[in-house]
Amino acid sequence: MSVLPIGDNVFEVGASHPERELFDCLMPLPHGTTYNSYLIVGSEKTALIDAVDPLKTDVLLKNLKEAGVTRLDYLICLHTEQDHSGSVPAILARYPMARVVSTAKVREFLAVHLNYDPDQVLLAEPDKELSLGNRTLRFLPIPFAHWPDNTMVWLVEEKILFSSDLFGSHFATEKAFATTSAEQRLAAKSYYAEIMMPFRAQISRYTAQTRKLLPRLIAPAHGPVWYDPNIILGRYEKWTSDGVKKVVAIPYVSMHDSTRIIVERLAVKLAAQGLSVIVRDLGGRLDSLTIETGHFIMDLVDAAAMILATPTVLGGPHPNMAYAAIVANAVRPKTRFMGLVGSYGWGTQVEKTIAALTANIKAECLDSLLVHGLPTEDDLARIDDLAGLLGEKINQLPNLMD
Ligand code: FEO
Repeated sequence: MSVLPIGDNVFEVGASHPERELFDCLMPLPHGTTYNSYLIVGSEKTALIDAVDPLKTDVLLKNLKEAGVTRLDYLICLHTEQDHSGSVPAILARYPMARVVSTAKVREFLAVHLNYDPDQVLLAEPDKELSLGNRTLRFLPIPFAHWPDNTMVWLVEEKILFSSDLFGSHFATEKAFATTSAEQRLAAKSYYAEIMMPFRAQISRYTAQTRKLLPRLIAPAHGPVWYDPNIILGRYEKWTSDGVKKVVAIPYVSMHDSTRIIVERLAVKLAAQGLSVIVRDLGGRLDSLTIETGHFIMDLVDAAAMILATPTVLGGPHPNMAYAAIVANAVRPKTRFMGLVGSYGWGTQVEKTIAALTANIKAECLDSLLVHGLPTEDDLARIDDLAGLLGEKINQLPNLMD
């Protein structure tokens, strides 16, 4: 990615990282990511909003050179996670006259994560403006979207909102700044699930706040700029609402097919009641653990129910299911119902372990259905009953979304 104009003397100068496969050693990145950095050239001052991941420092420096930047007055830091702040020292080394500008929380975190001297920071107050001459910046803190320090910046004259991680997506292609494809929207949903969903109440408020601003475009720190803000705002309004879809998410692991038989029967019987069923095999391939768990977490953005399906391994859930349960617990989905099914060989503590791993999920728990060995006709009848009960509960829910 090179220098891309997104407004009058406003440019995206960050770095694309399409080859990156994982974020935080956790989130799969099937489309890579970008670290967006925005250059605003005012009549009197020039500002850069955010740096990039240290792995891509050379790209940012090259782009700034390509943009003809010989003097940088302000380096505005909106968030100190290292994918945006990691190259701050290199930028300051190249442009030593630049002054770091940030809120008090970012300043505090810059000291912690970069050992940056707080006395060198020009403090941005939420109720004060930073003038670049003919351009004006306002700072809007958005704590816990997703760190305590996240901050948005509003470019008054251009009506551009620089939204930090909020409204971002891990999506890097050559067309990253000119697409609103279905694939890219799915990437935005996955990003929301993994990063923003744990803070749904705050994100709902920030989405409403953004609506009121009537931005001409939204420029997040990852992925494409939203040239039509309605697209992403509409999605966020749905995702952060209390509404759920008639969707049942079923992640499963099956070593010798007994659990798979349970899942298939359950899926068929749920579908027969008009429910959508999304089944994710967490153990089919070497990379299933990360890829399929990532998909499962995205399913939880609006699924009415989740049913974990696991065999018993050494007394507890299969480790892949334990991993998925821990991640689901961390992102705190609005899922209304939760269940556990699976097969065991000679004894099981799986119910107790899964209950402990998912203690933060505020969903109604259905009775577990654990089968001794290969499911029998009686077991299949029990599965049918479970499907009937769950279907009835979901179909009676208020706030069902299309
Ligand atoms: Fe993209 Fe929270 O860093």
